[in-house]
Amino acid sequence: SAPNAYVRAAETAQYVRSQLPEALQNPKVAIVCGSGLGGLADTIEAEPKVELAYGSIPNFPRSTVQGHAGKFVFGQIGPQKTPVALLVGRAHFYEGHTMDLVTFATRVCKLLGVETMIVTNAAGGLNQNYHVGDIVCLNDHLFMAGFVGVHPLRGPNIDEFGVRFPPLSDAYDLDLRRRTHQAWVKLGLDKQQRRLHEGVYAFVAGPTYETRAECRMLSMLGADVVGMSTVPEIVVARHAGMRILAFSLVTNVAVLEAGSRGDDPEIQSMSHGELTEHLSKGKANHEEVLLAGREAANDMQALVKQILVSLYE
Ligand code: 6GU
Repeated sequence: SAPNAYVRAAETAQYVRSQLPEALQNPKVAIVCGSGLGGLADTIEAEPKVELAYGSIPNFPRSTVQGHAGKFVFGQIGPQKTPVALLVGRAHFYEGHTMDLVTFATRVCKLLGVETMIVTNAAGGLNQNYHVGDIVCLNDHLFMAGFVGVHPLRGPNIDEFGVRFPPLSDAYDLDLRRRTHQAWVKLGLDKQQRRLHEGVYAFVAGPTYETRAECRMLSMLGADVVGMSTVPEIVVARHAGMRILAFSLVTNVAVLEAGSRGDDPEIQSMSHGELTEHLSKGKANHEEVLLAGREAANDMQALVKQILVSLYE
């Protein structure tokens, strides 16, 4: 029978290690960079640094998006030169990958010695208090696909990684969430427009966005944001005993009622340039918030970096 995920991940981890200088071979932290959040890769030290295109790594999922494959970046971050592994780009379930492949890089990280994963994504805001550009530190999730059997741990348990019935009641590490709020203040972000929340992420398989009724349903069930990533990786990371910190950047507000806020396709589909021009013509406040949202990635990156510094000082 086909080798299981442990055998394949061990093979891949061994290959990856063979490509790295000794100083980068033991990353303690892995950071998954979601859509528009790959800028973190530019904030690590220039030397030593190794980039491995996903396409060059054995057993990695092949991207279905041409020219958008993504890369593994290994380097050192911050004054303590903490060795980190960045995953710039990820495999999504909606692309047609199995849950096994969607979570493969997470398992490789575990076998490289990673203890803490910081996972980021772009998501839709369901909570009516959320605005475009807000950052949400996840403190729980709803795994809609998992409930109906689309689950990365379905099948024979892989004992090398973890137990058959892993608990998830403490999946979102309290100490890391505390550090997040401290880092937020330390960076002075509490004095800016940007807002930090804690909230619940609902995973949906996609690729369609939710209908209004689906948004209302998820909202009623307690979800604050909705998206198509992150939860499978977190489930597999927790199975393997890694600590988790996860952030959503609210890139749009979900439409719960016809004609409600968020229900403005003209503005939501504008490019950055179009939106800037729109603003320069003196349009209203709401558009400014949208623009702020597109610039929020920088603050999210600064936040992640500051948390990393606090972890190893
Ligand atoms: Cl509104 N829904 C989903 N499923 N994913 C998203 C999103 C919404 N906005 C960004 N990603």
